[in-house]
Amino acid sequence: MENYFEKILQNDSIPRQIRETVYSEMRHALEVSNIAVLISKELGKDEKFCDDIAVAGVLHDIGKLRVNRYVYSDDSDDTLVVEQMKYVRMHSAYSRDILTDEDYPVNIIEAVYHHHENYDGSGYPDGLKGNNIPEMSRILRTCDVFSALITDRSYRKAFDKKTAMAIMIDEVEDYDMEVFLAFQRVFHADDFPEIEKLQQDATELQMKHFNLFEKEAVSF
Ligand SMILES: [Fe+2]
Ligand SMILES: [Fe+2]
Repeated sequence: MENYFEKILQNDSIPRQIRETVYSEMRHALEVSNIAVLISKELGKDEKFCDDIAVAGVLHDIGKLRVNRYVYSDDSDDTLVVEQMKYVRMHSAYSRDILTDEDYPVNIIEAVYHHHENYDGSGYPDGLKGNNIPEMSRILRTCDVFSALITDRSYRKAFDKKTAMAIMIDEVEDYDMEVFLAFQRVFHADDFPEIEKLQQDATELQMKHFNLFEKEAVSF
């Protein structure tokens, strides 16, 4: 799938300043989607659940492209950091809005909208706690944090996989324990894929839903 993502970097219909962002968001999305499917299978979920979470994983951060639009079109610079934080936290609501406009099933929309809720109630947008958080969101949360930790950020280098896991164990109250233990089993299995594979191997179903990234990016 590398070629498909690489093509994004050359796609002239996507504004140059966001091409890199779209490219890395797509890789993150696929990684989250792939790990979410592995955890779901480990939890014994049926095919429908696994397909739905694969789609939710691909699209969970689609609203970030809309956040970028507002941040880039904002001329003031002093307030930018604070504003950016505020906007970034809105991305799950934008994701929900985009998926609602596209007539996605309610369970996928809900899963996406709540993917930043923490099990102890400290997350957003609604501060939901425990099993009030949709199960798919609880799975996505776990995958999302892991994916973020093993990725370079502007303010730090990527952590290696083992360190990322150790950091997550330290803040384990954020996660659903049943999900987290399933993630640990998947992670420690001999066939846990290399990061590169998690960010590149896409099924037809996942690819189909990546179209929405291009649609959002082009309408930037
Ligand atoms: Fe997110
Ligand atoms: Fe994410």
